[in-house]
Amino acid sequence: MTKGALLYEGKAKKLYETDHADRLIHFFKDDATAFNAQKRGSITDKGVVNNKVSAHLFQLLEGGGVPTHFIERLGDREMLTKRVSIVPIEVVVRNLVAGSLAKRLGLKEGDEIEPPLVEFFYKNDALGDPLITEDHIRLLNLAEPSVVHELKERALQVNTLLLPFFRERGMVLVDFKLEFGLHNGTLILADEISPDTCRFWDQKTRESMDKDRFRKDLGEVEEAYQEVLRRVCGEGRPG
Ligand code: TMP
Repeated sequence: MTKGALLYEGKAKKLYETDHADRLIHFFKDDATAFNAQKRGSITDKGVVNNKVSAHLFQLLEGGGVPTHFIERLGDREMLTKRVSIVPIEVVVRNLVAGSLAKRLGLKEGDEIEPPLVEFFYKNDALGDPLITEDHIRLLNLAEPSVVHELKERALQVNTLLLPFFRERGMVLVDFKLEFGLHNGTLILADEISPDTCRFWDQKTRESMDKDRFRKDLGEVEEAYQEVLRRVCGEGRPG
């Protein structure tokens, strides 16, 4: 597969076309941003961790019956995927109260959410990715009602598959964000699943093992990413 023109550069990834019209190459950068890019930095080897962790989880999910854009990992920082038309809705699943949910509703961080909560955010940087309801999705014509239903069902299926996987690795899957795309009329999981897009807490210490360490200046950010790589893929730099 030959890498073609740069199609798009996002905050954490670059997307390249290939010599195959239906294939894209994702390059995972070390750049880190938070609070809609008001805070910027870099996390050494984050791109390697996010690429390898995402690849591992996409394969796990495919095995569990969730179609994804993943085709193969091409190297430390690159992944070959199907080309999709991204649905501009970020789907967040929450098992424990944290982050914007705690703030918005005054709930206590760490409280369990049963059954898990699904939230939709409008993927729009200029607006700061606002929380939206299904009625807003209809108003903005972001997706058909049947697609919205499927987004929610798929996101909950992903949660059901990931919860035991992380539990077995001493990690609490607090919450995570998914993006989906349409590929030949079928909804498939896209983007990435990584410490940038999930909250993981260590089961014993309850310490954050994800991008919250960067967002909140908690220190040992790179170490946390390497630890996630070790626990998910069984590899990583010696810690
Ligand atoms: P939130 O609590 O800030 O709404 O975040 C919910 C989940 O979504 C959390 O696992 C982090 C992830 N997330 C992203 O992947 N991208 C983002 O831009 C934000 C704000 C959150």
